[in-house]
Amino acid sequence: MYLSREEEDILNGGMGESAQKAIELIVALGKVYDADGLVNITSAHLSGASYKTIGDGGVKYLEDVSKDAKVRVPATLNPLGMDRDRWKEMKISPEFAKKQLRIIELYGKMGVKTTCSCTPYLGDNVPRLGDHVAWAESSALSIVNSYIGARTNREGGPGALAAAIIGKTANYGLHLDENRRPTVIIDADINDTVFENSLLGQAVGKMIGTGVPYYRNISPDIDGIKTMAAAMAAAGSTAMFHIENITPEASKYSTSGLETIHIGKKELNDARSSLSTTDDIQLIAFGCPHLTVREITEMAAFLKDKKKKRNDVDIWFCTSSEVRKRCPDQVKILERFGPVLADTCMVVAPIESNYQRTGTNSAKAGNYLPTLCSQKVICNDFIKLMEMVI
Ligand code: F3S
Repeated sequence: MYLSREEEDILNGGMGESAQKAIELIVALGKVYDADGLVNITSAHLSGASYKTIGDGGVKYLEDVSKDAKVRVPATLNPLGMDRDRWKEMKISPEFAKKQLRIIELYGKMGVKTTCSCTPYLGDNVPRLGDHVAWAESSALSIVNSYIGARTNREGGPGALAAAIIGKTANYGLHLDENRRPTVIIDADINDTVFENSLLGQAVGKMIGTGVPYYRNISPDIDGIKTMAAAMAAAGSTAMFHIENITPEASKYSTSGLETIHIGKKELNDARSSLSTTDDIQLIAFGCPHLTVREITEMAAFLKDKKKKRNDVDIWFCTSSEVRKRCPDQVKILERFGPVLADTCMVVAPIESNYQRTGTNSAKAGNYLPTLCSQKVICNDFIKLMEMVI
């Protein structure tokens, strides 16, 4: 594997101990995947921000790395285990809050932007077509590859942080043209609603696992694409897909000779019922991935004249602090039903301490709520879930 003189110097400790460890990790990964060398990156997005997911071991690791490391490229951070200002409303313990605030401090010390959303591509971290980047967060990195046309592998938290520290990653996988080719055609007959796109992602992720699907007959907007990408990455491990006439590289590769899978109402229904394991709920949580201004606006329009009738069910709307700031009037309407929480989500918050049954309109959350939060789940669209409480 070729290393430049500068890279050799980092490997020999010329940029400090943390940078040395970072490049050791990147080079080791490169060797495993047969990379020919390293490639400069223009940004990183890091996971491993919630105290619930990284625990005391993760805090200790960040304490060590942050002693002498700074990121060399713009880097953003995934959602936290709580809303920084409203954690008491989330029934978070003071002990948890203290550790969570320390984690934010440590990332900030390294120069990471602590906006903490899983949709940074809509705000403060927007790669350009053809950029090489190192992103963790499976839904966001899939959007980067498939909607923006920048290039990233499915990084883990430590790999993305290491890449951010040295400004480089190993040149393999989805950084290379040959691995971005479609491997199967998906002929979808669905309504382009956000929820049906989520179920489509669930059905396809389950069927193909890894692989690069090429979608025909759909034209989702960004809200639909983000929820589809999230579900595909959770149900399978898809990190790249093409949508005809949307993905910048969709016309670059031939699809002749590829198998075609048809997805229609039956597959969507199967996907929905496979994720639904209860018939009542204690919490309904929206915003996986984080809600956009348009989603919040549509929800507020629906709820404007409604009243919440059940006090035994909590409702959370999860988004970024930037989006929450941008639509104060709509947020006020939603707040009559439940808190609009910023920079956190129902999966990385410790909801299992207070709830056992959760409703979601996200297939990604439907996959993770049982495994990461010990929840029974109802997976349905926004209106059907709200009709259970209004
Ligand atoms: Fe985002 Fe949390 Fe879902 S990080 S994609 S809202 S699991």
